[in-house]
Parts: sequence; C-alpha cells; structure tokens
Amino acid sequence: SAVPELAVIGGDGIGPEVTAEALKVLGATIGSDSFTTRDYALGAEHWKATGEVLSDETLASISSADAIVLGAVGAAPGSTEVPSGLLERGLLLKLRFALDQGVNLRPSVWYPGTPTPLAPEVTSAGPIDFVVCREGTEGLYCGNGGVVRAGTPQEIATEVSINTAFGVERVVRDAFSRARARRGRLTLVHKHNVLVNAGSLWRRVVEEVAADFPDVEQDYLHVDAVTIAMVREPQRFDVIVTDNLFGDIITDLAGAVTGGIGLAPSANINTSGQFPSMFEPVHGSAPDIAGTGRADPTAAISSMALLLDHLGRPADADRIRAAVSADIASRLGASARTTSQIGDAVAALV
Ligand code: NAD
Ligand code: IPM
Ligand code: MN
Repeated sequence: SAVPELAVIGGDGIGPEVTAEALKVLGATIGSDSFTTRDYALGAEHWKATGEVLSDETLASISSADAIVLGAVGAAPGSTEVPSGLLERGLLLKLRFALDQGVNLRPSVWYPGTPTPLAPEVTSAGPIDFVVCREGTEGLYCGNGGVVRAGTPQEIATEVSINTAFGVERVVRDAFSRARARRGRLTLVHKHNVLVNAGSLWRRVVEEVAADFPDVEQDYLHVDAVTIAMVREPQRFDVIVTDNLFGDIITDLAGAVTGGIGLAPSANINTSGQFPSMFEPVHGSAPDIAGTGRADPTAAISSMALLLDHLGRPADADRIRAAVSADIASRLGASARTTSQIGDAVAALV
C-alpha cells in the first residue's frame, strides 16, 4: 500500500522540539522511507506574521494527509502578545472539530520505577494501566454560549454543553470495544447528580451499548470521586469514557500520577476514516522550559505508538512502547538528559 503521508505541525514552545524526537523514533522504528512528512509552520509566529491562525486552504491541505502529528500550540499563559485561546481554539480545536475526531484517546501506564506522587502502597498494589476515551468534538468545547450586559455588575456569561446521542454513542461504543480487547471493564465518568440532562443521555447510551458488550463489566463514578480513586486506587480503571471537559481535566491528573505530563501521549481519532486522525502529547507548549533542552519528548514519542496502532502496525507500536519503558527504567539514579538525548536513546532501543 502507499506510503503514509504525515502532516506535521510542530507548533509553539517545546512543540517542535518534542516533535522532532518523535519523528526520529518513528523513523528508527519503521524506516524513514516508510512515511513522508509535510511540515506546516503554524502557531504564534505564523499568526504574528500573517494575522491568520489556520486558513481554509491550509486546513484542506492538512485534511488530505493520512495522519497528523502535532506538537503543541499556545503562548505563555499571561502573554499580552497573543490573545488567550486564539491558537488553541483556532488551530487545535479547529482541527479536532473540522476533522471530526470524536474519540480523544489518552492512555496512562505507570512504568515501575518512574517517580510518582503515588504512595508506595498504591504502586505496589498492581499494574496501573488504563485509557481514557474522552469525547473530542462536543461538550463545553463547542463555544455555545454568550455574554450579556458585558462589563457591568449584572454581567451574565453562559457556556452551554452540547451532548448529542450520536457523539456520545460514538465514543461510548469505541470505549466498549477497547474494554473488550483489554481487561473488560468500562467506567463512565460524569456528574449526573448535578448535570441531569447530559448525565441522563450518557447513562442511557452506556446502558444501550452495553447490551452489545455483555462481556464488559460496567462501573460509574462521579468526576470528583474519580480524582480520589486515581490517586488511591488507580488499578480499578481499565477504560474510562467521559465528556470533553471532564476528560481534559482527569487526563492531566492521570499524567501526573503515572510519572508526569511529559510522559502522557494522546490520539484524536476520526473513527469513520473520512478524515485524518491526529497524534499529540497531552501537554502544552511549556513556554517556561522552551529552548532549554529540558522538555521530555517521551509523550510525543509514545504518541507515535498510537499512530502505528492506527496505521495497523501494532507490533511496531509495541516496539516503541517497549523502548520507552526500557528508557524510563534506565533513568533511575542517572543524571538528567536533554530532549534530543532522550530521543536518541529511545531510537537506539526500538
Ligand atoms: P503545559 O502542559 O504546557 O505545561 C504545564 C507544566 O508542565 C509546565 O511546568 C511545563 O514546563 C511542564 N511540561 C509540559 N510538558 C513537558 C515536557 N514534555 N517535559 C517536561 N515538562 C513539561 O501547560 P500550560 O503551562 O497550562 O500551557 C502552556 C500553553 O500551552 C498554553 O498556551 C496552553 O493553552 C497551551 N496548551 C496546549 C496544548 C496542546 O497544544 N495540546 C495542551 C495544553 C496546553
Ligand atoms: C489538551 C489541551 C487542550 C484541551 C487546550 C489547549 C484547548 O488542554 O489537549 O488537553 O483542552 O483539549
Ligand atoms: Mn488538557
């Protein structure tokens, strides 16, 4: 079959730094002639130079790729040069929405020996290995809402969460199939004790889809309780399914408890195959460490394993996961390495 063409958006801050290492490892794994790349110089600099975040033409060009590799976008929080959210909404969320990436897959694995804030009695209780299937195109991310009486003491700001039966079923079905292929356990995370409208829809859809997966055991937790369970008994999770914002929040926590945000990969999957899926670390552009060589490229590298799973090369994906796990094991007691040293080390291990 044809050589897959990757649209590469390094983006801002540490985005291009970690993306270069991810592509290095991808090349070492399957051979650099097994894929081609097209670079898109998008992000803060592009916006400052052109006044454009993502033109329709560029979006169309990116849409024709087989997959997208993204670093990170966004200026430093508090930057006065770039309006807050301009790049995040205009580039990252625009891609997730326009390319109908309904499943935002975020796996968390704790590799023994990795420094973690978890208590020793928690890490010794068994392997920590779960995935969050975060809905990617709906919820509070739709920008549905508005402001009245702006700037007055009577100001009212609304953000309305959109949940469609279609979008919810799409991610719930995906989550059930992943649970079936894993340890057979699905946890719905919501807050249906307060958010009754959306909460009932999510519960109904889970109940209906469950009929097709009698072999998968189901569980439910309110999102606040999830933050406790993730810290005290993360082993209870196999597959978590949840909405866009809850998924955003709990996957930063999942990253933190399994060794840090520098290790957490993600895939934004277009389940119909009509548009390309996008592979990116969970973390952002980390302006505080950009240019210092201190960014850990592991999250971006592990996202290449998700890309290879998606391209139907699970054995090659496992080679990356094994190399990452060995590299992390080698860190114990060793001195800190730069971004490219970690990339070189993982590339040598695949
Ligand atoms: P962040 O994830 O960029 O950084 C949070 C903290 O984690 C910082 O201390 C940072 O130094 C550290 N960190 C992040 N990635 C790391 C890595 N690979 N290695 C070592 N340390 C790492 O989150 P933030 O500071 O809230 O956001 C910075 C910018 O990134 C904002 O503009 C935000 O909107 C944007 N953002 C973009 C994405 C994305 O493109 N997917 C995701 C999150 C945040
Ligand atoms: C993430 C990020 C994005 C999100 C932001 C930058 C829009 O935090 O990928 O987790 O909220 O989805
Ligand atoms: Mn996030």
